[in-house]
This record gives sequence, C-alpha cells and structure tokens, in this order.
Amino acid sequence: EFVIQTKKLGAKIQPTMYGLFFEDINYAADGGLYAELVKNRSFEFPQHLMGWKTYGNVTLQDDGPFERNPHYVRLADPGHPHKHTGLDNEGFFGIGVKAGEEYRFSVWARLPQGGTSEKIRIELVDTKSMGEHHAFATETLTIDSKEWKKYQVILKPGVTDPKATLRIFLASKGTVDLEHVSLFPVDTWKRHENGLRKDLAQALADIKPGVFRFPGGCIVEGTDLATRYDWKKSVGPVENRPLNENRWEYTFPHRFYPDYFQSYGLGFFEFFQLSEEIGAEPLPVLSCGLACQFQNPDAEAHVAVCNLDSYVQDALDLIEFANGDVTTKWGKLRADMGHPASFNLKFIGIGNEQWGPEYPEHLEPFIKAIRKAYPNIKIIGSSGPDSEGKQFEYLWPEMKRLKVDLVDEHFYRPENWFLNEGARYDNYDRKGPKVFAGEYACHGKGKKWNHFNAALLEAAFMTGLERNADIVHMATYAPLFAHVEGWQWRPDMIWFDNLNSVRTVSYYVQQLYGHHKGTNVLSLTMNKKAVTGAADQNGLFASAVYDKDKNEIIVKVANTSDKAQPLSLKFEGLKKQDVLSDGRCIKLRSADLDKDNTIEQPSAIQPQQTPVSMDGQMLNVELEPKTFAVYIFKK
Ligand code: AHR
Repeated sequence: EFVIQTKKLGAKIQPTMYGLFFEDINYAADGGLYAELVKNRSFEFPQHLMGWKTYGNVTLQDDGPFERNPHYVRLADPGHPHKHTGLDNEGFFGIGVKAGEEYRFSVWARLPQGGTSEKIRIELVDTKSMGEHHAFATETLTIDSKEWKKYQVILKPGVTDPKATLRIFLASKGTVDLEHVSLFPVDTWKRHENGLRKDLAQALADIKPGVFRFPGGCIVEGTDLATRYDWKKSVGPVENRPLNENRWEYTFPHRFYPDYFQSYGLGFFEFFQLSEEIGAEPLPVLSCGLACQFQNPDAEAHVAVCNLDSYVQDALDLIEFANGDVTTKWGKLRADMGHPASFNLKFIGIGNEQWGPEYPEHLEPFIKAIRKAYPNIKIIGSSGPDSEGKQFEYLWPEMKRLKVDLVDEHFYRPENWFLNEGARYDNYDRKGPKVFAGEYACHGKGKKWNHFNAALLEAAFMTGLERNADIVHMATYAPLFAHVEGWQWRPDMIWFDNLNSVRTVSYYVQQLYGHHKGTNVLSLTMNKKAVTGAADQNGLFASAVYDKDKNEIIVKVANTSDKAQPLSLKFEGLKKQDVLSDGRCIKLRSADLDKDNTIEQPSAIQPQQTPVSMDGQMLNVELEPKTFAVYIFKK
C-alpha cells in the first residue's frame, strides 16, 4: 500500500526537470535532424569531391565568394556533342525523397566567362535500378549573371525513393561555376528554409521538454582544441560557416565514418530557435579550453589557464548573442539572423566530461567573468566522465567550492545499476549545487539495446529523480538520435533512416515523465516507511506529484518484479467529500522484455491508457509484472 499525502505540497518540481540532450553523434545533425540532403555542399571536405562523382569537364576552383568556404566547381564544355559535364551527389546514405513533396534545390552560380545565359539541369535519379538510370524529377535553371548569385528551383518527385542521387549537369555549351549546392524539403519543421527534418523535430516537441542541452558532449571538447565546437563559426550566413571535423567520425574501430563532418548548418541560432519552438530552456555547453581528455592526456593539448581569455570571451559573447539587445554586436547578429527578441538564456554549461585539477582551474575564470557580467545566469559544472569513482569524489567538492549552480552527472550503466540506484539522490547534500543528470541510459547486456527492460528500469530509476526534485533540477537521456545506417553509440532515444523514424520505449518513458511532471512533490510512504527507491520494496519504485496548474495528482509506479502485485493508492489529507475523478492510468508494458520498437515495427510497444475507478479515496488494483504505470486523478 502506498499512502500519498495530498495536503502538504513538497518541493517544487523545476519546469526544466525532464529535457533533451542533443549531440551530433550517430549522424544526428548532418544527415539527421538538419534537413540538408546534400553531403559536402561547399566542397570543403578534406578531399574536396567526397560525396560527389563528376563526369565530363569538371574542375575544382578555390577563389569562391565565401571566405571560409573558398572551394567550388567549374562545369565546362565536355568537348563532344554526345558527352556531358556534371556531377552527382550521394547524400547521406542516399537522398531520401517522398512522392508529392516539394524539395528546394538552391545553388550559388555565375558565368565566369560572361555571356547572357547558360543552363544547368537538376535531376533526382534512381541510380539503384538496373539498366538506364531513371530521373524521376527534373528541372532546368538558367544562370544569367557574371556575378555570383543564388538560384533556386523546386523539385517535386512523383515517386518515393529513400536512396536517390542528386544529378546536376550542364545543359548548354558554355561554362558555369557552382558553389553551395543544397537540397532541402520545403516542408521542414516550421518551414524554416535552413530547416530541420519535420518528423524528428516533432518527436522532440512531443516530449514537452523543459530544457534542451546542446551542441553535445565530447564534440564540445573536440579531438583537439582546433576541432572543438566553436559557436561563433556556427552563426551568420550559412554559406560562410566553415566545416568542422566531427569527433565522432572515429571512436570505435568497428564504427568508422571517414566522411562524417559538421557543416555547422545546424548552428547556435538554430539550436536557440528550436529550444524556443519546443518550449524548452536553452542550455548551451562551451569548451573550457580542455580538449577531450580521453584523447588528449597531455597538458600541451590544452590551453594554459593564463591564456583562456578568448574562451572566456566566447562565453560572454554567447550570452550577448542570446540575450543582448540589438545595439550590441552579438545581439545585432541574432537580430540580423531573424530573431530581434532575446532568447532569454538562463543557463550555460562550461566543459563536458573534464577531469583532474585542470578542470576546476579552467572553470574558475569562466565563473568569475560570468558572475560579474551576468549574475543571473546559472552555471553548470561537471562531475567528470562517470557518476562514480575517483573523479566524481574529487570534482563534487570542487564544484561546491566554486559554487556552480548545477553539477552535470553522467551515467551509462547496466541494468543492475539502475535497479540498485533508486535511492541515489535521497541522501545528497541539500546545501550545495543542484543536480543535472545530463547524460544517462540503461545499457543492456549482449545484443540488448533499446529493449523494453532497459526502459522499464530507467522509468523505475526516474522515480528517484522525481522524489528528489528539491535537488535534481534537470535530467536528460542520451544520446538522442541515431541513423540506422550510421551510428557509433547505442542505445539511443530516437532512431531514423532517410524517410522514417521510430520512438523507442525509452522515448515513451521520457515522454510520460515530461507530460506528467507536476509542479510539486507529494510525500509517499509504503507500509508506513518513506518510499526510498531501495531494493527492499518488492521491486516496486514509486513517486507522487501534484500539478497545481491542472489540479491533478499523479502517481508513477514501476513494478520491476516478475510478479503481479496488488497495489493500493491511499490518498490522505483529502476532505471527506472530496472525490478524485477522471482517474486514468497510462501503462508501458511488454510480455517480451527484449522487445523494442523498430523502423519496421515502430508501434510494437506504446503507452496504453485506460480509465480507473476509485474505491472511495483509494485505488485498489493489481499491477502486472514488469510494468510502468502512471496514475492520474483530477482533484
Ligand atoms: O553521449 C555520448 C557521449 O558520452 C558524450 O559525447 C559524452 O559526453 C559521453 O562520454
């Protein structure tokens, strides 16, 4: 029997409590959420024609109109009437297009030898079919200027193809230069031109996240400092954002993608805009001047503390970019990019999974400068790469000494860890910084990744986050996205191919918490003892909250045992005449613990809602084995 005290409201649950952590790993940005379909659109990959196949008379040039992306291609007469000059782009694991949808092809072009006009043909081609390559969408563009100019045309394929090729070829006799070749669906999220894939962004919005952490974990740090995520390069006109190596190009030898780069097309402006559009507080994380320490054990790889000024300035400028008015340098850039109003940034993370004395040493000057210039911004430090062990023991006191506002803890752990850590936060020091569980996921054994049991244990563990909402202020599962043909890390919350996406059971757990987080914790006892999440509760994990805005009482219970258990919810503190009405229960369950949702079967396991009826001021039911249940009542 669980007893819920309804009269006295407990700790406030922060609106940021359940959120999202985005990182460009597993092709999450280029090839994923960022809807650009052309790979290496600016010809700046280390081999400039990676992703492209050329034919006829194509030459690479390097004095283009965009300073930070100087390369482009010149298409000239192939020298024979039966030959063609052109190039094909392979996209990211092919180019996925849907019948009847519109795709905006755009290109910067000029006539280097003058003249009045030349033509290029743009086609979507099925290069997989046997025999003749079949173009299933074709348009012609007339290039009519000696000066660089942007041209665009809409392609409307009549068939769906997950792996088409984009073909561009010269359709007249002269010479044409092409730069920044791009293809986007017109119907992106909110129809932004430099937009995001609609189904993936919608999946984020559907969680109702409270916070959105970006641009990642290790990519913030970089394999080396030169390739750290540099937010200043990710803003301004998209054509002039330089290419950056992706630290996740290679990590595990069996998952090596030599053509995985960051175009910065999904940059800090787009991250802030997305946060706003999905209703989440933006939480950018910046480099603290330490490159990824897993890859760089030597001090030489890092910036000396005395040389940190430009890094600290980057953090101050970022706050100005997000919040400064249009008379400030960076606030003006934000306005020029289309958002004159402030993004109302409240949080900033400095450093990802850093460790050793060098981390607090590097963090300190950031804290001093940010506190001085922006005393209301909350600063997030880190407890190191793992939520336990030497670094954790060392860094938490350091974070307290430096008085950061929140400490980011990471835990990618096996099933038994999640089972045993239900009481993790019950005894945390209430006087120090708050907790941000910034990266976590339950990792199954063997070939089990996004299987049901992992998600169930995450749900059970999260009751402990919720009961301790006075100290846990944010929690974000990780990683968020993975392309089924290009991943380095699993499990992940949302999987996708070029046309479809699938929400895992872990996604639904996050969504249930996100939708039913409540505004205040309610006290909860089991057999007269406070519920702690300890292992002696018959495998039952629970939390209770009240939602002031909806006037709802919400009780979450995870039965991790393999037995059905009688469950009574007794509500105390209600007036005699009070009736809890509109009772409903949303359950996640699966008879097969190893089952997961897949692209082929995306709805195998989904939350199911049923009405429940009260027995006076009590609910008496039987909770099935291996089930996560959310009970919701109107007060
Ligand atoms: O989420 C994947 C990686 O895990 C992150 O980049 C890093 O912070 C952690 O090690």
